[in-house]
Amino acid sequence: MPVIYNKPIIEAMTKPITILAIESSCDETAVAVLTFQADQTMILSDLVSSQVKTHAKYGGVIPEVAARMHIKQIIPIVDTAMTEAAVNSDLIDAIAVTGGPGLIPSLLVGVETAKSLSFVWQKPLIKVNHIEGHVFSSLINEKLSRLPELFPALCLVVSGGHTDLILVKNFGDYERVGGTRDDAVGEAYDKVAKMMALGYPGGPIISKLASEVNLSQFELPRPMIDSKDFDMSFSGIKTSVLYTLKKYSAVTDQMKREISFEFEQAVSDVLVSKTLKAAKQFRVKTILLGGGVAANKTLREKLQSHAAALLPDVSVKIPEIKYTGDNAVMIGFPAYFHFLAKNFAEIKGFRPDPNWELT
Ligand code: KG4
Ligand code: ZN
Repeated sequence: MPVIYNKPIIEAMTKPITILAIESSCDETAVAVLTFQADQTMILSDLVSSQVKTHAKYGGVIPEVAARMHIKQIIPIVDTAMTEAAVNSDLIDAIAVTGGPGLIPSLLVGVETAKSLSFVWQKPLIKVNHIEGHVFSSLINEKLSRLPELFPALCLVVSGGHTDLILVKNFGDYERVGGTRDDAVGEAYDKVAKMMALGYPGGPIISKLASEVNLSQFELPRPMIDSKDFDMSFSGIKTSVLYTLKKYSAVTDQMKREISFEFEQAVSDVLVSKTLKAAKQFRVKTILLGGGVAANKTLREKLQSHAAALLPDVSVKIPEIKYTGDNAVMIGFPAYFHFLAKNFAEIKGFRPDPNWELT
């Protein structure tokens, strides 16, 4: 439901609104309390309990294990988030929760908790799409009344499960204009790290190795970089890494650094080129970056410098590192706009959707 800044919405924006937000779509149990007041977003508490060390032993997220850990963590984290924020249930205006996409056992824990709190406290419930959270994660510090001036915007969402170019016409009005046809970019990072036995999650490890060199003897392809559409492909780059590794009986640490460097260059070249091409085509005012891979230094720098050179009138918004990976602040933030539009979910019949498409 698009949110149009009309008179009732602007009047509603003058009242302080406090939202408790819950995110449990994958392997982070996250809870935050946000207050929207005086044209700003105030983060009263922001907790993330990561299960990454547990899943690292298996080389990836095990859904059943993730759900069990969420069940153990969620109530204590809600409790701590409320205490840290110094609020009680009377001060909460709504409860927001990720309704998908994600792993169904994980999503269920957050959704059932949010439904119970909504029922017991008699507060409205807001269902937020996880990708919508990543889309707006770079705008959390902006003045709320100025946000519509940034639209139309184009968001590059890069995470473990998604690589999408989303045209943001307004809050609630989105169109996927491009993105990967195969692997998500985070998934490609994780798989390449696995091929080189570097550990999980692969993104930060590859990124660190890549930063230790500034040249590579290896050359990887930039698939689809010149195609006319805004589609991308990352499985080919990943396969090229595999073939490169197969040529050698022993892969040294220096070779791993150089492969990481070239992989990062190849991936960011494709992402930045497609993003700029789409930004130009759709004449956007703003480029947004979001998702776990948005923590990648090379991608952040390349997107900013290339946009400044090629599209100087377009502003680029990059999220703070703490809002790149999964967190609950990014769920509470768009929830405010659903609150203003009275876009509430019914407790009865609200089931998380593991494949919920934003557009
Ligand atoms: O958004 P996110 O936390 O979870 C999903 O919704 O998928 O993204 C996780 C992904 C993982 O694939 C991880 O390897 C990648 O983000 N990642 C990075 C970096 N930090 C995390 N990839 C590249 N460079 C990084 N610095
Ligand atoms: Zn995510």
